[in-house]
Amino acid sequence: MAKNTPPLNIDHLSERLRNGSLKICVVGIGRIGLPTALYFAKSGLQTIGVDINTELVNMINSGEYTLKDEPEFDKVFEDVINQKKFSAMTDISKAVPDCDVVLLSLPTPIDDQNIPDYSTLLSVGKSLNGLLSGGQLVIVESTVEPGFIENELLHTIEGSEKNLKSGIDFHLAVCPENANPGEIMNDFKKLPRLVASIDEKISTIVSEIYTHVFNVELIPMPNCKTANAVKLTTNVFRYINIAFINELAMLFEKLGVDTHTVIEAAKRKYNYQPHFPSSGVGGPCLPVNSYQLLNTEKKLGVDFLNIIRAARNTNEYMSKHVVKILSDALNEINVDLNGATITLLGVSYKPNVSDIQIAPSKEIIDILQKSEVKIKIFDPYFKSTTVFSHKTESNFDEAVSDADAIILVTAHDEFCNLDLSTLTRLMKNPVIVDCQGIIMPEKAKKAGLIFRGIGRG
Ligand SMILES: NC(=O)c1ccc[n+]([C@@H]2O[C@H](COP(=O)([O-])OP(=O)(O)OC[C@H]3O[C@@H](n4cnc5c(N)ncnc54)[C@H](O)[C@@H]3O)[C@@H](O)[C@H]2O)c1
Repeated sequence: MAKNTPPLNIDHLSERLRNGSLKICVVGIGRIGLPTALYFAKSGLQTIGVDINTELVNMINSGEYTLKDEPEFDKVFEDVINQKKFSAMTDISKAVPDCDVVLLSLPTPIDDQNIPDYSTLLSVGKSLNGLLSGGQLVIVESTVEPGFIENELLHTIEGSEKNLKSGIDFHLAVCPENANPGEIMNDFKKLPRLVASIDEKISTIVSEIYTHVFNVELIPMPNCKTANAVKLTTNVFRYINIAFINELAMLFEKLGVDTHTVIEAAKRKYNYQPHFPSSGVGGPCLPVNSYQLLNTEKKLGVDFLNIIRAARNTNEYMSKHVVKILSDALNEINVDLNGATITLLGVSYKPNVSDIQIAPSKEIIDILQKSEVKIKIFDPYFKSTTVFSHKTESNFDEAVSDADAIILVTAHDEFCNLDLSTLTRLMKNPVIVDCQGIIMPEKAKKAGLIFRGIGRG
């Protein structure tokens, strides 16, 4: 945007959207930001991605696609790169002044004390203070606590250096992203989106822009904090329900009741929503989001969120439970966990994605290491590399050969139809622990395996 031109208003933005000249800048082009940027470019709008990761920017600009585990990503990527609608750069100060809309898809992790860390958003917000003034629209897609936009980010952008005024020099809105890794391109086509803004007038143009790009239902929210509250409510709902089924799973194991049979039948009731037991809850969203709500509680000086705290205890306990049932299975054949060779199948936090953020596999490995276990790892998304300080295997047969036990941590497609009798043949001791409920206990026993599964009676 040229200096000394009057600030954009809603009509200008609307007009530029209609004539296709609206320019978009997406800051943070990782798992969520890059597909988002591609979708804006795919809709015909000139889009630039900004990221501090120079290697990522170079890869994108040389036409190499990065998110190989996202179905359909390659096709969209190729199309927009060929049409020269999208490119990437590292310098935010070059990208932002030339754009009408700035989307923020920056990381919002937790630190090692489990405190939400918004420093990236705030430091980019500070840079924006020096770069905006033309009435650009800033839309935050990152997941933040309710109130963060109004109480922190807004004031940071309005800032100390240049005294910007929201509603005149820039407009601030949110559209919290809720796509799921491994299904992002598909989710973009169907998931409704929440829209809210600081200045209510701007919500209409935000909705127009997202309708142009995504063609999904848009849900107007009364304000940013409500939109962010919805995002956290949906994710923490899942987190709590997973904890509930994890608790039942441990109870049902003792009772001799099969949890997966229970879930299948419970699903038949119209108001039951299935969640599945596992070795814990990982990834950049669900575990972080529960800590975000706990942080909000702390800031407000109240003490209500007992269910979330209990869910955390249960979900974080599950890795210990995995090692407990593993030891139990090894005891059955008089093998000591101490000094045993254990192979982990899968380290990703969820099936079919190459992502180990807050993965339960890390906790399992840490516990096993205390018993001087020799750890082998096979994951089709992490072959011949180093994960959690362990070299990973490149060959499945070699990974399971000579193992005293296997822990099936992640239900990658590659593990869904394992040849169980081959495992029995290759392993030193045929013990298997299934954390994902993908091996039928009867089949495992028939193949000669000593079987344990989370929630299996
Ligand atoms: N991954 C998910 O499942 C998911 C789903 C919905 C929402 N979200 C939310 O979306 C946001 C982004 O998550 P993600 O998974 O895409 O994260 P990511 O780590 O994959 O991507 C973030 C990108 O931002 C870049 N970055 C960091 N600091 C920067 C800076 N100062 N300037 C420019 N770029 C910078 C990083 O290099 C990275 O490429 C988070 O708030 C997250 O909670 C994530």
